[in-house]
Amino acid sequence: MEVVTTREGFGTATSKARSEGARVGLVPTMGSLHRGHVSLLETAASDCDVVAMTIFVNPIQFSFAEDLARYPSNLEQDIELARAAGVGIVFAPSVSEMYPSGPPETRVDPGPLAGRLEGASRPGHFAGVATVVTKLLGISGHCRAYFGEKDFQQLAVVRNVVRDLDLDAEIIGCPTIRESDGLACSSRNRRLESADRVAATVLCKALEAGRARLEGGERGTEQVKNAMRVVVASEPRAKLDYAVVVDPVTFDPATSRAGEVRLLIAADLGGVRLIDNMGVRP
Ligand code: PAJ
Repeated sequence: MEVVTTREGFGTATSKARSEGARVGLVPTMGSLHRGHVSLLETAASDCDVVAMTIFVNPIQFSFAEDLARYPSNLEQDIELARAAGVGIVFAPSVSEMYPSGPPETRVDPGPLAGRLEGASRPGHFAGVATVVTKLLGISGHCRAYFGEKDFQQLAVVRNVVRDLDLDAEIIGCPTIRESDGLACSSRNRRLESADRVAATVLCKALEAGRARLEGGERGTEQVKNAMRVVVASEPRAKLDYAVVVDPVTFDPATSRAGEVRLLIAADLGGVRLIDNMGVRP
């Protein structure tokens, strides 16, 4: 496994792999790897000849300085996990390597979708994500790039950016990996106090309640949202930000029950913001 820290080194490594006929799978991460990340690496390894993983805590996607300062970092452990998962190239640049002139003046504007839901609570977040993903895809060159459905709105933003800017990548969405009690794996989970960790299952329980309503034939979006809200309200440690039922592509409020809808939820537990989502075909 090759570990590179410069943009030039990363571009050279992926170009060399392609020139030898390899199909390159790219998995962008912010490190502190957990089973969710590992599942992306495994999917990429099963689809591609060479897996390239990036580890970069991207400062321009954090709306709050405190969140960035608290972001965990375990580079040595991440490199060992990557090796075990069959990664061929790790790109772990410093902030000054990625942004040598300081915070970039040019940012990718992902449009109205970036201002809704997660974007409404985290101003500038999706522009920061879109900008760094555009850079990573540009440096890597032609690849398949793997993103988790856990961050469903991020996946949609990335798909839009690649489509609108003709970036040379095929985006693959991968299912959410969960702990045994249903909580979606996330680097933020380790920041939860033990009582909040137990209470955090309220997010997936709320999604299940919404799904049960839809599958039971409920046609009113408000009723489905209410079913989710009631579950969150039953947990005093959780503060709900949003619980919505949307079209999985446009993110407009779902009105017709014809196609698949997406239930999305965000809540705060003891100062830690958690998100989750679920697809339902009523
Ligand atoms: P990070 O939070 O490290 O996540 C990296 C990738 O792992 C993302 O595609 C995310 O959706 C996926 N992932 C996280 N938890 C998952 C889970 N439980 N199941 C499946 N996939 C999961 O998302 C980012 O980093 C950054 O915004 C990034 C895209 C790297 C840009 O900086």
